[in-house]
Amino acid sequence: MTAQELREKYLDFFKSKGHTVIPSASLVPRETDTSTLFTTAGMHPLVPYLLGEEHPGGRRVTSVQKCVRTGDIDDVGDNRHLTFFEMMGNWSFGDYFKKEAIEWSFEFLTGKEWLGLDPNRLYVTTFKGENGIPRDETAIEVWKETFAKAGMDVAIAGENEIIKDKVRIIPLGTEDNFWIAGATGPCGGDTEMFYDTRPEDGPMDGKKFGDLVDSFRLIEIWNDVFMEFNKTIDGKYEKLVKPNVDTGMGVERTLAVLNGKENVFETELFQPIFRKIEELSKIEYGDKSDDEYVKADQQCWVDTRKQFRIIADHIKAATFMIADGVAPLNVGRGYVLRRIIRRAVRYGKLIGIEKNFTKEIAKVVISLHKDFYAELENNENIIFEELEKEEGKFKNTLEKGLKEFSKLSSITAAEAFNLYQSYGFPLEMTAELAKEKGMEVDKEEFETEFKKHQDLSRTASAGAFKGGLQSTGEMEMKYHTATHLLLAALREILGPETYQKGSNITAERLRFDFNYPEKLNPEQLEKIEDLVNQKIQEGISVEMTEMPKSEALKMAKVSFDPAKYGDIVKVYKIGDFSIELCGGPHVQNLSELGRFKIKKEEASSAGVRRIKAVLE
Ligand code: ALA
Repeated sequence: MTAQELREKYLDFFKSKGHTVIPSASLVPRETDTSTLFTTAGMHPLVPYLLGEEHPGGRRVTSVQKCVRTGDIDDVGDNRHLTFFEMMGNWSFGDYFKKEAIEWSFEFLTGKEWLGLDPNRLYVTTFKGENGIPRDETAIEVWKETFAKAGMDVAIAGENEIIKDKVRIIPLGTEDNFWIAGATGPCGGDTEMFYDTRPEDGPMDGKKFGDLVDSFRLIEIWNDVFMEFNKTIDGKYEKLVKPNVDTGMGVERTLAVLNGKENVFETELFQPIFRKIEELSKIEYGDKSDDEYVKADQQCWVDTRKQFRIIADHIKAATFMIADGVAPLNVGRGYVLRRIIRRAVRYGKLIGIEKNFTKEIAKVVISLHKDFYAELENNENIIFEELEKEEGKFKNTLEKGLKEFSKLSSITAAEAFNLYQSYGFPLEMTAELAKEKGMEVDKEEFETEFKKHQDLSRTASAGAFKGGLQSTGEMEMKYHTATHLLLAALREILGPETYQKGSNITAERLRFDFNYPEKLNPEQLEKIEDLVNQKIQEGISVEMTEMPKSEALKMAKVSFDPAKYGDIVKVYKIGDFSIELCGGPHVQNLSELGRFKIKKEEASSAGVRRIKAVLE
């Protein structure tokens, strides 16, 4: 099946169920929505209607929405992360609810005239109930009946998530099955549909659901959210007058699953771009497995594949952004665009592309997508012009900047700023180059330095890459304070030799890197989480004092390289639990943070672990 056939089938199906087909909204959110730089989900342009406004198309609509999510931009290049993607969705504004949504999802997935997927390979999760919101018995019942109609007598997994016998329904907690875009707005429990992509691996009996997802055997293809609440800025869940349905199904992923491809990059949405990059670089993308290459000691091929993926993803995103009126700038949305073009240009150089190439890639992107997104062809000239201009500008300084960078053995904020000002290196690019060289970067300090020199606003910082629907500054401040708590907790549980190795904050989560030789076990993670939550519950106030550096270093428990701070420094003190030298800002009292939850613990690099955590 082609991408275009898939999009059309989806829209036709929901048209047949009384939905109005609406066009994709712009990647630039409506003016009144300043919470996020780009459209991040199909529901995003529909928030006013999910909160009760009347939609001109009626109470049932369906669309294929172009989306940009830059939160995981550093992970693009592995086998699943993308910054630009397309999301198919159907919505009920206070009309149908769980029964219809689930039945239709099943019909579309398995119906012979629709996707024709095998129901025996389908696994679904539902909301198990948490935080005062009850388990979704309705969703479970509807799924059971729906499977039964297809001749399948299915069972429900227990708390242990173990798949055995007839288990097809797996109830999971808030982390997996409660959906909200960012920190506030319409939200609710959801049910997610997963497909077994490798039945040849044998029976799943005895295996844990989460492990099957982690190993990519089970791939999530669709999410039906049952929006019953509006989460307010003070963290309350207000019941919506009329509940809604919001669903999202990724075009790229579904296409990969339908065509038996291992990942999105193997689909027709990327392969033609890779062929173009091969032509330009004279390097092959490669079609061998990682194992074969590692065996042949040609690890470099794996890296080349990453470069291809980054170039393809970033220039595709840039093409769509420019078509929606974004231009490269030093602030806001334009900064994100500038940053991704420049990153692609650097990767192009790494694989030996000599001449300007971004326009050539954009041509392929346009030809791949123009049938569905007419704005691409309509804005072809401006797309080419902006790409050419930005690439030309950056290529002039890239080489010199890299030379300058290669002389450094460590990097200070002032040097990063110089690379930005003199050679146009976005902060994140310098951070990436530093990481490749094994140098440490204090992002917070970089940002302070950048702000001092230029009104780059928060958008030039990590805070620009987010998808929240509310006051991002406030959320980031909370995460900043939570980061201090996390570090203090890590040092208490894992030992005082634990230090910060990196940190990145968006309005949705914190990411924290620290030194530790092995994977943390569940007990350690639980202890760390509990300790942070205990401190939050104690409602300790956060005190800031400015003092001479020498004095601060005596009292602070941890700080980044003290040489980077001025003579008078700020010290943030949270009871006697955490005392850190830091630029701030922070919340005034820990009680503002809500509940702290570790979402993921993984390796970041050798000897460095990474924790992703959220505040709920
Ligand atoms: N809004 C839901 C999602 O993005 C459907 O997953």
